[in-house]
Parts: sequence; structure tokens; C-alpha cells
Amino acid sequence: MTTPLDEQQSVLEIQGQTPLRGEVNISGAKNSALVLMAGAILCSEDCRLRNLPLLVDIERMTQILAAIGVKLNRKGDVIDINAQDIGQDQAPYELVSQLRASFFVIGPLLARLGMTRVPLPGGCAIGARPVDLHVRGLQAMGADVRIEHGVVHACVRGSRKRLQGAKIYLDYPSVGATETIMMAATLAEGETIIENAAQEPEIADLANFCRSMGAKIKGAGTNKIIISGVERLHSTDYCVIPDRIEAGTLLIAGAITQSEISLSPVFPEHLASVIAKLREMGPQVIMEGPDRLRLVPAPVRATDIKTLPFPGFPTDMQAQFMALLTLSEGSSMVTETVFENRLRHVAELQRMGADIRVKGNIALVKGVPFLSGAPVMATDLRASAALVLAGLAAQGTTLVQGLHHLDRGYDNLEGKLRKLGANIRRISVVDEPEYSALS
Ligand code: EPZ
Repeated sequence: MTTPLDEQQSVLEIQGQTPLRGEVNISGAKNSALVLMAGAILCSEDCRLRNLPLLVDIERMTQILAAIGVKLNRKGDVIDINAQDIGQDQAPYELVSQLRASFFVIGPLLARLGMTRVPLPGGCAIGARPVDLHVRGLQAMGADVRIEHGVVHACVRGSRKRLQGAKIYLDYPSVGATETIMMAATLAEGETIIENAAQEPEIADLANFCRSMGAKIKGAGTNKIIISGVERLHSTDYCVIPDRIEAGTLLIAGAITQSEISLSPVFPEHLASVIAKLREMGPQVIMEGPDRLRLVPAPVRATDIKTLPFPGFPTDMQAQFMALLTLSEGSSMVTETVFENRLRHVAELQRMGADIRVKGNIALVKGVPFLSGAPVMATDLRASAALVLAGLAAQGTTLVQGLHHLDRGYDNLEGKLRKLGANIRRISVVDEPEYSALS
């Protein structure tokens, strides 16, 4: 795992226009693994998680759980978690501030201990990202919640210190709020109903994980989830689903370099909107068996994209598709509706010769015949992937900086691309005099 200093001093050097071919393996899903690790707190027995991706964010979640008394032992892509001895210790702010997903511990801690303190995660590059829907859900289940000095203090009312089932309507189908409420409800007294719930595949994976520990959950993956609380949960051995966003990113790598590639394992239904959009643009996406996809390239046509909660088009694929649209035939409108500040990759794509104009949360992308390699700076996780993809298609050399964003959410992306034949390497600018201007 690279250190922050290494990341600051290292860049990805990409020689573009190298065709790709072959097959690539998809790692476990970041956005599932993170919440499942927090969910293991619900159980005071051993929990084994398999297919864990190798990511900075997973490292950080491991440190945060250890800081509150959870025992963790990782070997390769398997981690054993035991939360028997969790205490009232508060996870250190310096750790929590680096990982929004750390807030996922609030539901399980409150359900297990009846009271907890969790630092507010704060905003990030893509938006303010408030947690009001999480808090309102816990309040509806009988918790007193107050925010003091940047810390959320939550305490279950009443002597029994047990959350109560409740009917909760979410104003917005928030992934995180649905996960927080669902986890808290597994140990609550009575039945909880979440309406207008998020339907992302990671929600269904979390429900399957909780059910494998003995929880009673129905309807996960739909907009109405019903949880009947139980007294306690038991140990489990569970495998995390494949990462649909990593798979989508690699499909674009094939399309943007006009290359035929295959990838597995994937659950095609998790990528339905992504596959539909790609086919609409020209490239073919072929199912080769239950969990394997093949991308067959074709000239790319312009199309409009609007990000929405699942099953709509995922906001986590918006930047990568924009990179592809910069080389399409025609003009496309890209509308980002989920996060208020998720078009920061536009300026860097423009540095590579893309023709994009932004008005509010809409970007008008006019296809150009080619992109030119350039030094570019990643501004957030998915923006970093978009710049790598643009670099694969560009003429000449692209240098991608800000790799701490990429390493948060991609398990050795450059290694997987190199396996497909890409001319890409991570270099330290200190060792490469011609790039010293970047350090
Ligand atoms: C999850 O974030 C993912 N992160 C995000 O992936 C993903 O983009 C997002 O879901 C949407 O799919 C993880 O799972 C760790 P939300 P989350 O709550 O749970 C607003 C990536 O690139 N909102 O569905 O934070 C919020 O501000 C990351 O891998 C409230 O207003 O997403 C946003 O505008 C980025 N109040 C919208 O809802 C709340 O209490 C969607 O947020 C909660 C959310």
C-alpha cells in the first residue's frame, strides 16, 4: 500500500492509443465492503468477509474499527472481524475525517450499545453530503441525537436502551441513510419499515449479509424494506459482491480505446443502465455466461446522460462516460442530479482538448476527433478514473496526479490495465528528472 508522500510524488504516466485485449478480474465492491465491515459490529461473534478489495478506504475502515475496540485480522482478500469487546471509545477525528463511510458505524453501535458518539464525517470534493436523513431515521426509532462540537451524540431513550421499530419515509432514497436505518433496525424491538428506500445492489448485499447473521429483512433492493428486529445476531462467513463501478470503468476502457476485452465476475443486472447506455452509443456488450461480459468496440455516438438513484444511471459512472463522450460523434448533455459538485473533471478533460461547456449541473459535451496527452490533476475518486481513461485514448503522454483519490477506490487499476496491454506505469516524479516540475 502506498504512503501519502508516495502518492503526492507519484503520477501515472500513460502512453495513449495502445489497443487493449484479453480478460480482467473484477475485485470486491468498495461500497459494499465498507458497510459490511461496519455491519459486523451488530454481532458479538466472529464474522468472516471474503473478496475484500485492496483499497486505502478499506485500510481506513479497518483502523477506525480497531480504534473502537473491534478485533480485525486480514489475510489477502479475507478479513476476520470480532466486535465482542467494543466500548464507548470514540473513533479519532483524524481517521474519520478521511473516510465518510466511517459514519456507517453509528447505526450498529447504537443498536448494540444503546448509546454512542461518532464524529460528523463532513463534506467532500463532490458535495456537502449531510447526514440529516440518517439522524432522522434514528430519532424515529427512539434515539435522542444531538450534534456538539462536530460529534454526533446518540442515546436510546428509556431504561431498556433498545431501539424501537418505526415507519420511516426517506425524503430522498439515500444509500447511506437506508443502510444506517436497516442495520439499526436489525436489533430493534418490533418492525421497521423504510419507504422510498435506496435500491442500490450494495443495499441488497448488506441485507444478505445481515440475514446470514440471523437478521429478518424483506424487500432490500426495492423501495420498501421491512425489518423485524431480533435479540442478537450470530457469526457468519460472507462473500462481498463484485464492484459494478470498477466493472463499468473497465468497460469504458475497452470502448474508449476501440478494444475488445472481457471482464468477470460481474452481475449484469447491477450494470443494466450502464450496459444499456453503452449499447445506445454503439459498442456491443455481450453476456458470456452468468458472470462474464465482453465489450466489442464500435464508433461511439453521442447520447444524453442523467444521473439518478438506482436503477437509474449511477453518478459513480458519470465522469467515466463523459471521458468517452469527448470522443463521440455529435453532442451530448450530461446532467448530474445526485451530487452538487461532481463536474470538476471537466476542466482537466478540457486541458486534453475536450470541448465541454458547463452550466450549473449540466455539461454539454461536443465530440472531438482526438484528445492530446497532458499533465492533469485528479480532483476526486471517479474523476481520477475518467482522466486515466482519457489518457488511454489520447495522443501522446498523459500524466495523472492526485493518485490518493484513485487509490481510495480502485484495486490496482493500472496493474489490471497493464494486464490488458495498456502502456501505463506509476512513477515517482522525484526519480524522473523530466517530470520534476510536477513535484
Ligand atoms: C454512496 O454514498 C456511495 N458511497 C457513493 O459512492 C455514491 O455516489 C452514492 O452512494 C450514490 O450512489 C458509499 O457507499 C461509501 P447518498 P452516500 O446518501 O451514501 C444527499 C464513490 O464514488 N443526502 O445516497 O453518501 C447527499 O448529499 C462514492 O464510490 C442528504 O441530503 O450517498 C447526496 O446529494 C461517491 N442527506 C444524495 O443525498 C442525507 O442524510 C445521495 O447521497 C444523506 C444523503
